[in-house]
Amino acid sequence: MATSIAVLDFGSQYTQVIARRVRECNVHSRIFPFGVSAAELRAEGVAGVILSGGPASVKAAGSPRPDPEIFNLGVPVLGICYGLQLIAELTGGAVAKSARREYGSGSLTVTATDSRLFAGVKGPLTVWNSHGDKVTRLPKGARAVAKTENSDFAAIEDDAARRYGLQFHPEVNHTQHGVKILRNFLFKICRAKADWKMSNFVGEQVAAVREQVGKDSVLLALSGGVDSSVVAALLHKAIGKQLTCVFVDHGLLRLGEREQVEKMFRGHFKINLVVVDAAERFLRKLRGVTEPERKRKIIGAEFVKVFEEEFPKIAKASGAKWLAQGTIYPDVIESAAIANSTAAVIKSHHNVGGLPKNMKLKLVEPIRELFKDEVRALGLELGLPREMLWRHPFPGPGLGVRVLGEVKREYCDILRAADAIFIEELRTSGWYDKTWQAFAVFIPEKTVGVMGDERTYDYLVGLRAITSTDAMTADWARLPYDLLQRVSNRIINEVKGVNRVVYDISSKPPATIEWE
Ligand code: XMP
Repeated sequence: MATSIAVLDFGSQYTQVIARRVRECNVHSRIFPFGVSAAELRAEGVAGVILSGGPASVKAAGSPRPDPEIFNLGVPVLGICYGLQLIAELTGGAVAKSARREYGSGSLTVTATDSRLFAGVKGPLTVWNSHGDKVTRLPKGARAVAKTENSDFAAIEDDAARRYGLQFHPEVNHTQHGVKILRNFLFKICRAKADWKMSNFVGEQVAAVREQVGKDSVLLALSGGVDSSVVAALLHKAIGKQLTCVFVDHGLLRLGEREQVEKMFRGHFKINLVVVDAAERFLRKLRGVTEPERKRKIIGAEFVKVFEEEFPKIAKASGAKWLAQGTIYPDVIESAAIANSTAAVIKSHHNVGGLPKNMKLKLVEPIRELFKDEVRALGLELGLPREMLWRHPFPGPGLGVRVLGEVKREYCDILRAADAIFIEELRTSGWYDKTWQAFAVFIPEKTVGVMGDERTYDYLVGLRAITSTDAMTADWARLPYDLLQRVSNRIINEVKGVNRVVYDISSKPPATIEWE
């Protein structure tokens, strides 16, 4: 059995990041609620325990505490931030409110040359802090191995009791050598073996899903995007014909998209796939509507309606008791952030997520703990093609926000043809993977042109290609002129109704990525 590290979650926003860093070191990690019993961890055979940070103060009444027996498991325990303070509070040290809170990056000095956590790490190093309390007295038997300006006990070690603590966050990128420090804990202190790979995740999740749903049937709303596709392949592996996927064609998809989904999931994987053709009703609802936010709201609401009408029927026919969702970790953080946010609404985003609550289906979310790049690696393991897994993001409202103004079938058809040419040329020139997103936009304005001595009066197509790391900010991609020329020529020659192509050179901010 692979070595496993338990991460106890005390509510830190970084708990998942800790688990991910451990996985990156090829060591299996599993997150447990903070109150998990020592007996359960013993039964799991964990090789080490990490206590996460958390928003509470150990001095506050009712603050979360671990089972004290975890300190008697005989395996190393590493406390991070709140976790360190817990160790101090529970094992004979003391914690107090700090006169100076430490938030953001600070400088750390390693004070013990023989420290095991800092083996091979030379200070001073920049570390990421986020705490208001500090350790004021060492636990019995522990020694301090690093300090900051604010604290003499920024890192502690007790080799005999196998307890370790860090006041800062080694798991975040801003901490220098954070990974090295975690590696020291895993390999030098816990003696973990680097024997975990993404392929193990497949086996673990297959077993977990089988145990969770038993012989029940499961429904999955498949959008054709990376996350739901990976969940479809994973669930299919776990439960085969107990899975039914539902794909809603809202008529605002790209060229050949529905056919690709059918070919891949029904044809290749032999998954039960129900395709709901809802194009007509979406177009009907959008008739005469030009205002972008109204269009977004209508598309979002219509999605919910389609699901409300179709899902119960499909669930009844398949006897489904479960609804699977391709929720991934950034969605979990984002929805928590959105729930607490008072930020201005720039665009009302929607995803295939607002599923009917009244159906009383239980949720299966097998990739909830994964980050996007891990989802892609998992997809590769499951045999999904690379081009699909590294596809550019596509907004939930689809071409509805790329046909400016009123959405008509004719406009969508022109846009689909132009967009397909653009994407094909980006792929063949090697530029697709160098851009974060690229697409065509239909502009319902006519301009004058000339083709073979004839006057033309046709529509305008915009091209947008951007570079970005997270879609929060973006710059326009410096595509080569000859590539742009080829795309423009092909669109004007091959797409009837278009006689002019323009390239968007605005960054975000002040523009946004999508035009609506
Ligand atoms: P903007 O246009 O706001 O887009 O700069 C940022 C990123 O979000 C995508 N986008 C959406 N994604 N549902 C989605 O799932 C939506 O309603 C939506 N609107 C925009 C956009 O393509 C870009 O990647």
